[in-house]
Amino acid sequence: MPIPSTFKAFRIDHDVQGEHQAEWQSMTAEQLSDGDLSVQVHYSSVNYKDALAGTGSGKILRNFPLNGGIDVAGEVIASTADGFVPGDKVIATGCGLSETRDGGYSEYIKLDSRWAISLPDGLDYQQAMTLGTAGFTAALSLYRMEINGQTPDMGPVVVTGATGGVGSLAINILHKAGYEVHAISGKPEQFEWLRHLGASQCVDRHHLFLGDQPLESAAWAGAIDNVGDQLLSGLTRVIKPWGNIASCGLAGGHELHTTVMPFIIRGVSLLGINSSNCPTPLRKQLWQRLAGQWKPEQLDSICKRVISPAELEPVFAEMLEGGSLGRSVVRIG
Ligand SMILES: NC(=O)c1ccc[n+]([C@@H]2O[C@H](COP(=O)([O-])OP(=O)(O)OC[C@H]3O[C@@H](n4cnc5c(N)ncnc54)[C@H](OP(=O)(O)O)[C@@H]3O)[C@@H](O)[C@H]2O)c1
Repeated sequence: MPIPSTFKAFRIDHDVQGEHQAEWQSMTAEQLSDGDLSVQVHYSSVNYKDALAGTGSGKILRNFPLNGGIDVAGEVIASTADGFVPGDKVIATGCGLSETRDGGYSEYIKLDSRWAISLPDGLDYQQAMTLGTAGFTAALSLYRMEINGQTPDMGPVVVTGATGGVGSLAINILHKAGYEVHAISGKPEQFEWLRHLGASQCVDRHHLFLGDQPLESAAWAGAIDNVGDQLLSGLTRVIKPWGNIASCGLAGGHELHTTVMPFIIRGVSLLGINSSNCPTPLRKQLWQRLAGQWKPEQLDSICKRVISPAELEPVFAEMLEGGSLGRSVVRIG
């Protein structure tokens, strides 16, 4: 079945003055970025990057116009790619969606089959998009930490930006993987929910001071950091010998001021996490884990709302103000 000649998408553009424009509007099949898989979209999700792109607050799109949505889940309706046939259920996260090519906030999308993943057994579309880029990033963080020697018996792992998408999923995945998990959050009113996800201790980031010496008393064996800037700088001072810090976010700022002391005295490792361009074989392996041994047990509780494309803009605004709670999934069509 071909993609219909016209359909709707959340299209992001800027006018001749460079003014940001974005709305759910009609577009034609000819306008879509090319790809060897034609997909009818069922679900997408809202990530911090989507909020930056959808509001024009961050330079995410490299060319205009493009459909927003860095995540997508849907059914193949036409394929010229080996290994995919109409009726297959597929997902894609990152991989240039809403950056260099049209993304998932659209009734139809053309995907490059090199980046498409068959929906793993054990996940439906909504669960896959509750995970989406956020869950994949949490899994990639833990994978890289463990490749670098992190084990549960080294001690607790702390998660920052704990109530957000990556943070809440990281807590639930770490807990399932056998780690003692601590949470740092700016929302004390959500501490009970964070405990429900598996955090045994919750710390209010507004009352947290991690010292100002290059090395302070070590508090955690590892960290998954969504915040960056002063909080990440503080974490480098307090991670135990041979611990790992997975740096995945910048919700609090993109700078990092630290010293080499944690690295050369304690052997701490700072691991860079980029979910967007992860090689496909590792991507497939991690999605299998997300559907199996690392599948978050509280996925339903982390999916805080299922919205329509018309409801995207208030969710973007809330996210950019630091108000995120769990994951927002977008039902398309
Ligand atoms: N490297 C990658 O591949 C990758 C992939 C996905 C996301 N990311 C990045 O990871 C971060 C989290 O993404 P997300 O989708 O989980 O976003 P999110 O759902 O909006 O969560 C962000 C969380 O960070 C905390 N936060 C917000 N503003 C803050 C501030 N000014 N100072 C300190 N903490 C603040 C809040 O948690 P509390 O209120 O609980 O503290 C918020 O819930 C973003 O920076 C995003 O760009 C990176």
